[in-house]
Amino acid sequence: MTGSFVLHFKPNISVIEKSTDDIVIQSPKVRGNIPQHRLNIEQISPGLLSVIRILANDGATEEDLSNLVLEADGFSQLPKLYYYLQEFINFGMICHTVVCEEYPLATRFPIYLTQKFQFQDIAVDQKYVLSRFAYSHKEQEQLVLASPLVSAQIILANWKSAAVIAELSKPQTCQELCTKIPGISQQIMQLFLSLLLSTKMLSEVKMDGKAEEETNKNLISWEFHDLLFHCRHRNGKHSYPSGKTFRFLDKLEQPPLAKPRMSNDTIELYKPDIQKLKEEDYSFTLVLEERQSIRSYKDEPITDRQLGEFLYRSARNKRRIYKDYGECTHRPYANGGGRYELELYTIVNTCHNIDSGIYHYCPQEHQLCRLTERNNYVEMLLKDAYFATSRFSMPQVLFVYAARFPRIAWVYESIAYSLILKDVGCLQQTMYLVATAMNLAPCAVGSGNSDLFVAATGTDYYAETSVGEFILGSKAES
Ligand SMILES: Cc1cc2nc3c(=O)[nH]c(=O)nc-3n(C[C@H](O)[C@H](O)[C@H](O)COP(=O)(O)O)c2cc1C
Repeated sequence: MTGSFVLHFKPNISVIEKSTDDIVIQSPKVRGNIPQHRLNIEQISPGLLSVIRILANDGATEEDLSNLVLEADGFSQLPKLYYYLQEFINFGMICHTVVCEEYPLATRFPIYLTQKFQFQDIAVDQKYVLSRFAYSHKEQEQLVLASPLVSAQIILANWKSAAVIAELSKPQTCQELCTKIPGISQQIMQLFLSLLLSTKMLSEVKMDGKAEEETNKNLISWEFHDLLFHCRHRNGKHSYPSGKTFRFLDKLEQPPLAKPRMSNDTIELYKPDIQKLKEEDYSFTLVLEERQSIRSYKDEPITDRQLGEFLYRSARNKRRIYKDYGECTHRPYANGGGRYELELYTIVNTCHNIDSGIYHYCPQEHQLCRLTERNNYVEMLLKDAYFATSRFSMPQVLFVYAARFPRIAWVYESIAYSLILKDVGCLQQTMYLVATAMNLAPCAVGSGNSDLFVAATGTDYYAETSVGEFILGSKAES
């Protein structure tokens, strides 16, 4: 392929000139995720030193760089130039820019070094189509094309590159694109498509009209949002800070451990004697072995006493603890960082001594706060759970778990939402086991309507909405 990329260091790469023939090139220290890379070049030739200075500034094509070394150092130093260029690329330090009429069209920006990077050639009459995993978003006043398939991003540096991407949502050849987007020569278009294809933003279209990406049996089962979520919250493909970064420390007040009481209309719940239960309860193995999902109930509904015992044994605050970053608590279920961001809403359909309606559970006081009596929202929430559980019976009680997102995002970055979903699993399993030990009928629910929940309870969707559901009722004799 004719045409060349302009090579330059990523802006966060530092070049330290210890002396005129001893330099260090290093990537920054990033908390958690990406290891720092450091290359020490001793007895560096004058030509190679100039190359590194150019790479740290505006950059140049490979051809210009090799001419520079040839002139300054002679032929014998050329292998060294290519060796170091490859090292820089392998360490994810080098960006490749396509220049069109003296302006950058697009830049490939490596993030991580786990994937070997090699440019692929573009045939002018071959059709290509945008990967279904490619997406663009704004980052620091730049339009970035990213994909969970690759640990690199492409900066779309002007409207022409963005227009090419828009056209590539349908299969296109290089020739077709040149006729549609003015001002990009075939040679530059080929170079840009090569940048996209090599960064897995494009897929070759086969003779049968299928994109190559669609023939990958392992990839086909992934939905775009699932793969993006997976790659973004696991370390590896991205370079964003991850883990306990406390990014809101000086910006937002830490959300409190306990949500303020939602109403003064409260119900004191029954508290079981935990010591007695420790001595007399079913054995752990019996509970584990007997646990199962039960979706239909005895005619006589669950009682207020059973509901109280169930909530006490699965979700109360056991004791408060103080960590260096604030107040936390212990509950019967495990939770990421002890943040206990999940709020428990109890939607009562039928329960002895408790009216149908929506209640918020206060884990410290072990009380239910009534939010509303039975209304249309109650009907809709219950029906949702009924449909999700194969329409066996209308749930007697539906628990909706809502996450106070800022409570966990205040501490964790990149992994906050995934921790919330794991916390849902911990609570569901704890509820299953407690229900089994109490001879009740439990079932987890895998889907729910978060907009409906917000409408029913009046919470702000972005501050707190539903992330999980669980249904409970009285167990019929087998
Ligand atoms: C995360 C999760 C989501 C679930 N979602 C549903 C659901 O939406 N509807 C349903 O009827 N059962 C649901 N279940 C129950 C499973 O179908 C059940 O656990 C599985 O079939 C194994 O049966 P067992 O629980 O009786 O051992 C869910 C279970 C889990 C753990």
